[in-house]
Amino acid sequence: MSVPASSDYEPIPSPSTFREVMGRYATGAAIVTATLRDEPHGLAVNSLTSVSLDPPLLLFCPDRRSDTWPVIREAGHFAVNILAHGQDQLCRRFARKGTDRFADLTFTRSARGCPILDETIAYLECEIRQVIDAGDHYITIGRVMDMGIDRERAPLVFYQGHFHRLGDEFENAVEVQRKAAGNSRSSNESEVTVEGSGGPNGQAVELTGEQIRAVRKETRAGALDCRKALEANNGDVQRAIDYLREKGIGTPKKVWT
Ligand SMILES: Cc1cc2nc3c(=O)[nH]c(=O)nc-3n(C[C@H](O)[C@H](O)[C@H](O)COP(=O)(O)O)c2cc1C
Repeated sequence: MSVPASSDYEPIPSPSTFREVMGRYATGAAIVTATLRDEPHGLAVNSLTSVSLDPPLLLFCPDRRSDTWPVIREAGHFAVNILAHGQDQLCRRFARKGTDRFADLTFTRSARGCPILDETIAYLECEIRQVIDAGDHYITIGRVMDMGIDRERAPLVFYQGHFHRLGDEFENAVEVQRKAAGNSRSSNESEVTVEGSGGPNGQAVELTGEQIRAVRKETRAGALDCRKALEANNGDVQRAIDYLREKGIGTPKKVWT
């Protein structure tokens, strides 16, 4: 399946005008990651869109000239790490060629091995289902296999080529969510985000992928929630499992497997 390349029609408007007009469409920013032969890879994108709820599908559009895209394609799975306010430097790092993008970065891995970056708003782990030729880009459709969310973090906004933050609008949205969560919990809605970051006293807790996988296996919660539960319990796997169960996170809500 393909969409006509630019040579198939009159190139009007010019690429720069098209970019300027589309730059008026505010987006978030994300880093798409994958692991191939034990090496982490990733690139910054803002061409992220949800496609279907059932089955859960999303898309992003890698440039044909991307060096990272062929690696992700070969890996067959990718994780979308949705960036939070304050992660603009990280985003720039993943847009620069010729650098070691993962140098000094701490991250965990999803069930299928994709790097899940720290301190993001959310992640979605996907399996590549379809790749469509589209001019100088590809449309990549992924089937969401797992995800996690931190509802308390403000998003990174990309608009007209610059990074911005949501102000009062974000605080208002969080407040509305908190109220809705309070109401739905009493009506048996069990998904609750583990709050806070770092250990019980705010200190950093070093975690291994093995610890996170052990908590995930028992609770089926997203990796982000498992990581936070471990951080809140000083890395103790059993206590993290109990903690998530107490909050109703994960089992029996197995919607995304
Ligand atoms: C905010 C932002 C959004 C971007 N969105 C995309 C995108 O959707 N698709 C893409 O191919 N490149 C996008 N880029 C550029 C790529 O990140 C960059 O060209 C790429 O990482 C170059 O390295 P690579 O050759 O390893 O892919 C974006 C960059 C930034 C800063």
